[in-house]
Amino acid sequence: MAVEAASPLPSNTFPSQPTKITSIKTLAESPGLTSIPATHTFTPDLPGQVTSVPEGSIPVIDYSLLISGTPGQRSEIVHELGRACQDWGFFMVINHGVPQKLLSSIIDGCKGFFDLAEEEKQEFKGNHILDPIRFGTSFNVSVEKVFYWRDFLKVSVHPVFYSPTKPADLSEISLEYSQRVREVARGLLKGISESLGLGGSYIDKALDLEQGKQLFIANLYPTCPQPELAMGMPPHSDHGLLTLQIQNGIGGLQIQHKGKWVNVGTHPNSLLVNTGDHLEMLSNGRYKSVLHRAMVNSKGTRISIAMVHGPSLDSVVSPAPELLVSSQGDEPAAYIGMKYKDYLELQQSNKLEGKACLDRA
Ligand code: OGA
Ligand code: NI
Repeated sequence: MAVEAASPLPSNTFPSQPTKITSIKTLAESPGLTSIPATHTFTPDLPGQVTSVPEGSIPVIDYSLLISGTPGQRSEIVHELGRACQDWGFFMVINHGVPQKLLSSIIDGCKGFFDLAEEEKQEFKGNHILDPIRFGTSFNVSVEKVFYWRDFLKVSVHPVFYSPTKPADLSEISLEYSQRVREVARGLLKGISESLGLGGSYIDKALDLEQGKQLFIANLYPTCPQPELAMGMPPHSDHGLLTLQIQNGIGGLQIQHKGKWVNVGTHPNSLLVNTGDHLEMLSNGRYKSVLHRAMVNSKGTRISIAMVHGPSLDSVVSPAPELLVSSQGDEPAAYIGMKYKDYLELQQSNKLEGKACLDRA
């Protein structure tokens, strides 16, 4: 698969390899960079592994109908949500009510953060997996052999709100963005809960979403001179229930659908939503978390902001008992119960590898 390391390139193909890379931005901005170092080189995809789906085949959910549609429109959307979760694990949300202005401000705010001097960003490095603010490069450099073409800022924004203190206006914008997106996520989870036949407030109550964990992840993928050899993020599924993502007009997200990688493309006015491992566990596998990855390009720097919405840290997530009994007889629970906090620690302290973490549950 695409994440296997290729054999190292001859050392003369890279002009000025820093001894320790603390951000890919600094590396990407090295003067005269025309090739990438062996430390960041992966085996390219075989031809035919990526497919473009016909325009319009990725499910689109009109959020306004879920919130203020007629009962008929609402039940139609609940049905569509269920299908999207089951068939794709991915959908685009339109008419979500988060102002466009706020979407562009939060992207600009994150750009401002990544544009800070290296030393300033290192102040927010964090020491432990569960530290509320963590700036870093790749995914987990302490366990990786080959690194991803990515810098990240991960900030815990709920139940307690954190934000880096620089740039000065980031915190205010991030608070507002986090609250607005969280509201949409909860609305979607209500619909999803209903689509499972569990009633609209089931997930909210069972996983204590009032205290739910919300994690803000800003990703920076700088322009790359050899994009076919680099990887922004490897194939993985997200922890949590739902991730809502936006990006700065440059695409790169791919999702796996029926065994092929599908380019999601750029959808500047939509929220891009993927299902997470904890929705898979809760639904006993009816709604599988979707594998996805991030590609890089040579045309421009990409910024994406992925907002992960999970249960409260102390929730123990296991298949909903209501889903294990049916008229056809009992269905075995396919996952053991696990505290969300323990799952998070497990996932974040290892390599990011497909669904390895979920397999352990
Ligand atoms: C993530 C993620 C994809 C992207 O942050 O978990 O999958 O396109 N990001 O940046
Ligand atoms: Ni992800």
